[in-house]
Amino acid sequence: MLKRTHFCGDLRSVHAGERATLCGWINTYREQGRGLFFVDLRDKQGLAQVVFGTETCPAELLEAGRTLRREDVVGVTGMIRVRTGGANPKLASGEVELLAEKLEVFNKAETPPILPDEYEADKIGEETRLKYRYIDLRRPKMQGILRTRSRITKATRDFFAAHGFLEIETPLLIKSTPEGARDFVVPSRLHPGSWYALPQSPQLFKQILMVAGCDRYLQICRCLRDEDPRADRQAEFSQIDLEMSFVEREDVIAMMGGYVASLWKELFGVDLGTIPTMTWATAMERYGIDRPDTRFELFIDDISLMAARCDFQVFQQALASRSPAGRSGVVKCIRVPGGADKLTRKMTDGYSEWVKTFRAGGVPVVKYTAQGFESGIAKFLGPIADELAARLSLVPGDMVLFAADTWEIATKALGELRLRLAADLKLIPPGKWEFLWVVDFPMFDWDAEGNRWVALHHPFTSPNPDQFGILESDPGACLSAGYDLVLNGSEIAGGSIRIHRMDVQQRVFNLIGLSNEEAQSKFGFLLNALRHGAPPHGGIAFGLDRLVMHVVGTDNIRDVIAFPKTQSGGDLMIDAPSPISDEQLRELSVRTTAPTS
Ligand code: AMO
Repeated sequence: MLKRTHFCGDLRSVHAGERATLCGWINTYREQGRGLFFVDLRDKQGLAQVVFGTETCPAELLEAGRTLRREDVVGVTGMIRVRTGGANPKLASGEVELLAEKLEVFNKAETPPILPDEYEADKIGEETRLKYRYIDLRRPKMQGILRTRSRITKATRDFFAAHGFLEIETPLLIKSTPEGARDFVVPSRLHPGSWYALPQSPQLFKQILMVAGCDRYLQICRCLRDEDPRADRQAEFSQIDLEMSFVEREDVIAMMGGYVASLWKELFGVDLGTIPTMTWATAMERYGIDRPDTRFELFIDDISLMAARCDFQVFQQALASRSPAGRSGVVKCIRVPGGADKLTRKMTDGYSEWVKTFRAGGVPVVKYTAQGFESGIAKFLGPIADELAARLSLVPGDMVLFAADTWEIATKALGELRLRLAADLKLIPPGKWEFLWVVDFPMFDWDAEGNRWVALHHPFTSPNPDQFGILESDPGACLSAGYDLVLNGSEIAGGSIRIHRMDVQQRVFNLIGLSNEEAQSKFGFLLNALRHGAPPHGGIAFGLDRLVMHVVGTDNIRDVIAFPKTQSGGDLMIDAPSPISDEQLRELSVRTTAPTS
């Protein structure tokens, strides 16, 4: 077999005069006249031009060259020379070409169902690209993403190894636990009727590694959650999972901030400086979301107190309402600078319709002019006009959009509307990195359907040190030692200081409705570990796929995973999931109730 000496995309004029063997895929071919036949050969580094039919090319080789077609895999040997017809500035190797003397066809390709052509790729449906992923991944863009991802994981390992983190693997076949998303489960052949669960994350194992004295842990691991995929969510995804002993929240935040800063320095040469911190309460009040996009300046204001003085039924009804979690209704608004001109009636009517998706009634609006409030709900704002204008620092030409509802609905509606406005008004400057730590989350969320408290992060998250006193007396107000890292409005990491005492863990389990017996049967291994010498500890997990999405600038998570699942959780290349044989089912003591096709 011909032995490769150079990569196609690496050839430069300094190589002229060298003998080389290139190996790769036929990207394009063309007859050039004067008995010459040209091929662009592609490998992971890029393209190189190969010429058949020069004086050093045997006649039968020219004939063989002429049979080459797109995506054939070949090796070609010959001399590298500076191009006689002038350089091709579109190719990195465009100054030189290889004069074919020997050819070996390793694999003749059938007519390709898709081509690894950037121009063509936009026209091909994603399903076809996923089905023929081995061709799709040949595209230079996809190769670039795979390389960036690999660079990130290497930089991650280097950074954390330098800070004393041990890379430790945790099991894939574990026990099903009732918290979080749905588990994927695996039947056990040796224990008929019993099932393993695949890990939603290595959470409890990394905590137990701290109990085991490992002090600092890292794993780049796969997590499996049986939930519906979305643009930034896959059922099978990767985390950079970390845990540290003898730390407080600020220690974890400092270490992880240092990691992100070093990564951005390496990848972009950018100095991030210190990442700012915001409380969850501020995030919800000012941005209407727990992962604020701080790249643009649109803010939400709660004007409930003054709104109570307006004789406007929509406000009055909202203020009199109460949410299932017991919060009073609110009137909130967003000031849109210059909105009076920029937002058309059609747009604001559209917003009123759109917010119904979030169960809000609509979006009342008003314009602010030199004469005061005009149009929309201006006539109701009389008693608060001056106060509202001052509170929002309104200037003529602004527009104000309102939401009047329960706290939860108004917050959600305006949080979403804020993002929609940013997109519609193009308020997000390109190339901006806005990192933000969100802290002081509530420990619990009220689950109205289940009529119980649920842990907002996960039930192993500790209350903030000053909050233990109100854990039972006011669970709704109790703040946790959880933290999320947000980048440009997307949650790229989440973690917490953990509970390291058995009695506190029991109390939290009790609060979320687990009796001591249930807690023992589901999480006995954790409670036992906490009985046998557990250090204070905390950690975090970064969503690796989301991190790579930001770095390469895509909003489709499937772009950054070599073999992703579709929206309906299928792998189109290998055709999974698929039925298994009756014999396999029998062996596993499993009977299916699914209709047979
Ligand atoms: P959490 O569930 O918040 O925390 O996950 C951590 C990070 O993982 C990413 N992520 C996802 N990425 C793609 N697809 C998904 N379905 C998906 N779900 C989550 C997000 C998120 O911030 N064990 C805890 C971490 C800890 O407490 O240390 C955990 O898994 O970027």
